[in-house]
Amino acid sequence: MPVIQLEQGDIALHYAEAGHPSAPLVVLLHGFPFTSDMWQPQIDALRATHRVVAPDLRGFGGSGMSADRYTMAGLADDVAQLIDAVTGEGAVTIGGLSMGGYIAFEFYQRHRDRVQALILADTRPDPDSDQARANRRKMAQLALSQGSRAVADQLAPKLTSPDTRRDNPEAVRALRTMMESVEPRTMEAALMAMASRSDSGPLLPDIDVPVLVISGADDAITPPAEARGWASRIPNARFEIIEAAGHVSSLEQPQAFNELLLEFLAGAARA
Ligand code: MLT
Repeated sequence: MPVIQLEQGDIALHYAEAGHPSAPLVVLLHGFPFTSDMWQPQIDALRATHRVVAPDLRGFGGSGMSADRYTMAGLADDVAQLIDAVTGEGAVTIGGLSMGGYIAFEFYQRHRDRVQALILADTRPDPDSDQARANRRKMAQLALSQGSRAVADQLAPKLTSPDTRRDNPEAVRALRTMMESVEPRTMEAALMAMASRSDSGPLLPDIDVPVLVISGADDAITPPAEARGWASRIPNARFEIIEAAGHVSSLEQPQAFNELLLEFLAGAARA
């Protein structure tokens, strides 16, 4: 896996990369607590027409962990550094699932001139409620006291649709493998960063690039009814529901997800 050295914290950031270096760049940001591996079906689908880069966010997968407190802004700035390193100038498509979507909103806020289009999957612009913050603190404690497997046990039943659990054991296994690979300290850092993330709601009416919002029909964490509501506040957003998918729609129904992705990217390129 290629790697860049991040300035802040002197971290080695690993990223998956595919496609031709001169093709339009799509950057894919993974959810919590996953790694760039979750994007393999999209990397395979896009490599013929696009250049795809999917980082392991700091502390996840092959990337180094920093001692600093994590913030969504800091993670978005890591992505900006990665884009600078791989392309230099120019705007790119940023896609994020769940936590990756929180970072994509933050990236848009901080690096507007680098964004050509946004793909926001199974995510939300709102900050955490007090209850959600309390739950994050409990989960961070669980990670530190009992390890990543305990967090995976707690999250696994909420992540996927019943169809995925019945018909797609490979996706279920892949999610568990990723979750168990994440260090408890990284889990804690990311959970606390998500708990303190800012409200991206006010940004929505000002987003002036093409946006694709995708929601799994059975997403219990960021439900489609909620996603339809916030997507309608973005002027140029297309909203799509993927049937028989839960919170990780890209991995649960890769074919349906990739069809939407390719169609959207072709339209965004024409716009
Ligand atoms: C994710 O998949 O990234 C998480 O569900 C995000 C969160 O916990 O809010």
